[in-house]
Amino acid sequence: MEIRERYESLKGLVTQRKAEFAALMDFVENETSYLTAPASTRFHLCREGGLLEHSVNVCENMLKIRAALAPEISEESCAVVALLHDLGKAGMPDRPMYIPNQPTAKQKQYGYGPSVPYHTSDKLTYLSVPVRSLYLIAPRFPLTEEEAQAIVYHDGQYVDDNRSVATKECPLLFLLQYADSWSCFVTERR
Ligand SMILES: [Fe+2]
Repeated sequence: MEIRERYESLKGLVTQRKAEFAALMDFVENETSYLTAPASTRFHLCREGGLLEHSVNVCENMLKIRAALAPEISEESCAVVALLHDLGKAGMPDRPMYIPNQPTAKQKQYGYGPSVPYHTSDKLTYLSVPVRSLYLIAPRFPLTEEEAQAIVYHDGQYVDDNRSVATKECPLLFLLQYADSWSCFVTERR
């Protein structure tokens, strides 16, 4: 199935807060670069649409882990946090985070693209990606506390900033963190 079809069907899992989610996704899709941004500057899925593809991969993997380990967790919560955990990578509505690099004259001459496809914009005030995700989502959508925790700490203890959540993780965070790692380091490397 095409990415857009997979994405649309995952969005359909949000039923309890359907109207709020539709309003949020209208903002996300039409006012940010979410649908076109890459997932990174030079690593996984560093191409147009990479962020969307990564978000879909994380959501599908998270639903599989949920089904095996924690069917009591709602699919709706999984869809919300998985599809939007990296929304911060879209930057702000008028200032995308990832800017395409241009090939050098020599690369152009030989028909090559730039060696590093994107760079990070210097026009954004620093916020970590998960914090920017929360900054963009929270005013527009009634997240539960567990969903907010999962989004903010989704890198787990890979990141020094996250030491404070150690031993206080809720199951939703573990599912998201593992699905995110699996997607980056296994699914997207295949
Ligand atoms: Fe991610």
